[in-house]
Amino acid sequence: MKRYVILISGRGSNMQSLLDAGLPGTCAAVVSNRPEAAGLALAAARGIATVAVDHRDFATREDFDAALAAEVGRHAPDLVLLAGFMRILGDGFVRRFEGRLLNIHPSLLPAFPGIQTHARALAAGVRVHGCSVHFVTPALDGGPIVAQAAVPVQAGDDEAGLAARVLAEEHVLYPRVARWFLEGRLALCDGRARVTGETAVTAALHVPQTA
Ligand code: GRF
Repeated sequence: MKRYVILISGRGSNMQSLLDAGLPGTCAAVVSNRPEAAGLALAAARGIATVAVDHRDFATREDFDAALAAEVGRHAPDLVLLAGFMRILGDGFVRRFEGRLLNIHPSLLPAFPGIQTHARALAAGVRVHGCSVHFVTPALDGGPIVAQAAVPVQAGDDEAGLAARVLAEEHVLYPRVARWFLEGRLALCDGRARVTGETAVTAALHVPQTA
């Protein structure tokens, strides 16, 4: 059975969608940089090992990175899933787990890397927003994209409404991609994400549509 570790910082809804998905693997641990993260308690209640590596306990980013890498490495994961993990990881961590380190980001990358993606999408006036799952590289939200879900922006959308619709798609997309990886159907090859059995999708999404 393959092993995966989930890294979180907050409420952990993506973590829950992964744990609910019946993935072909064992969740070896949920690790948070915030001891108070609500998701930690949810994972513990499911009988999963939980660990906090509090970034505030470390003098430098490098020290935190090293401690986090040691903790994650201790669980010998085949796959590490960043699920609302809100610390930027240093090169050392990323290189150690490269090719088995995935992240979900709430925008259609490479648009809107970083934070406050929904407000920035609304401010930019885009008609299509969404979420992306990508392999993590040292470039912030810049690694090879595996899969994306497009979410139309509706007239009158506010940040909360748009965020909720994107989050619902995150909860579908991330478990699907994690499953591909754990089934051996997804790999990082020559800097690109390769998915075995990928088929063409021909329909375009037109937003807005009028009669
Ligand atoms: C998600 O939108 C995730 O994409 C982003 O932060 C949010 C975390 O939500 N990085 P949750 O903790 O998974 O509920």
